[in-house]
Amino acid sequence: MRKIQVITLFPEMFTGVLGSSMMWKAQKEAVVEFSIINLRDFGIGPRQQVDDTPYGGGDGMLLKPEPLFAAVAKAKESDPEAIVILTTPRGQRWKQSLAKEWADDGQGLIFICGRYEGYDERIVSLVDQQVSVGDYVLTGGELPAMTIIDSIVRLIPGVLGGETSAEIESFSDGETLEFPQYTRPAEFQDMKVPKVLLNGHHGEIAKWRAQNSFKADQQ
Ligand code: ADE
Repeated sequence: MRKIQVITLFPEMFTGVLGSSMMWKAQKEAVVEFSIINLRDFGIGPRQQVDDTPYGGGDGMLLKPEPLFAAVAKAKESDPEAIVILTTPRGQRWKQSLAKEWADDGQGLIFICGRYEGYDERIVSLVDQQVSVGDYVLTGGELPAMTIIDSIVRLIPGVLGGETSAEIESFSDGETLEFPQYTRPAEFQDMKVPKVLLNGHHGEIAKWRAQNSFKADQQ
């Protein structure tokens, strides 16, 4: 079973996403095990402090190193070989081919969700990979972590239904995103479903779909 651990100050953000749809199914079928670690549990002192002001001055609070080092050590107790990922706009841009690579590679994953105000740079020494979901700044690393996790988990064998995943693979190693699709009615508000899709000719339909597909890695 694939183990995915997430270190966050906002565990409640994960409840809906990991409890729904494909992420829920992946757990139910024992393909993936999620563990959400509350960084606050590793905070310092009676107020369980996790952040502090920056040396040299400046706005905002930075995540302190000690709680994060302790949280990663805890995560590694149950999965010593796991890869540690920090979500940050400074990281490598996430893309479908990486999702496929990480889905195929069976290693456990530990996500550290960064925070918009920043973190003590020494945290980076804990990290194997820094990943960004795009050139924009989010309030925290939680949404990026969920995005990355979703894109990996759905590609782990046994998560998508057999037929669907086989179909995706046969197109192009899981990298083809989509072709336009339609369902009934064949005509709606003067908009018609392309004729080729209605004629039941599998060869022509496959050709039309191939011509109208786009790749996830295309920009
Ligand atoms: N944290 C804040 N913004 C982010 C981004 N674009 N990608 C990954 N982590 C982030």
